[in-house]
Amino acid sequence: MKMRLLWLGGCAACLLAAGCRATPPGPVETATVRWVKHNITVKGAKDRSPLTHSPTVMQEGKTAFGYYCVVCHGLDGQNTGVPFANSLSPPVPSLASREVQRYSDGQLKWIIENGISPSGMPASRGILSDEEMWSIVDYLRHLPPAGSLGEPRVYSGDDENSSQ
Ligand code: HEC
Repeated sequence: MKMRLLWLGGCAACLLAAGCRATPPGPVETATVRWVKHNITVKGAKDRSPLTHSPTVMQEGKTAFGYYCVVCHGLDGQNTGVPFANSLSPPVPSLASREVQRYSDGQLKWIIENGISPSGMPASRGILSDEEMWSIVDYLRHLPPAGSLGEPRVYSGDDENSSQ
């Protein structure tokens, strides 16, 4: 029974992956995928952050974001300076967009922890602590204006060893 479920899961993942890579999805497909994500795939809707928003918490989130998320999301979470953001399928969304901001805090934490399979959004479980993940959620709720932080250094070539 377990094997069968695994196998079915595998097939679904393949189909999804294949579906995602075919020609760009139409509006109906996009809306469906979005609905499924918001209502079924992404868990944690009711989880509450143990942290209260403050400049310190937000700064901690911004720092962790600067290490683990900037290569794909840009320093401002809005893809500034990320060369491949639009060529991924699905593309890297602006984290300030209404679609992303509509997730509850718990859902955002779940996304960070588990990633979004089978897209390019990786899971941070075991890499980031719970507190770091919740502080990132706080940063996501208080993103600066697009472009205000410049480009991640890794792309501007100022410092090859930097991940920011
Ligand atoms: C390797 C590139 C990459 C990295 C690193 C990355 N992401 Fe993502 N992220 C993506 C892609 C691609 C998507 C689009 C996924 C989708 O729509 O299925 C995404 C989507 C998201 C979403 C929105 C999900 C949705 O359903 O619209 C959030 C929130 C997010 N990322 C947060 C983060 C945070 C926080 C970090 C750092 C801990 C991070 N990401 C690191 C590539 C990345």
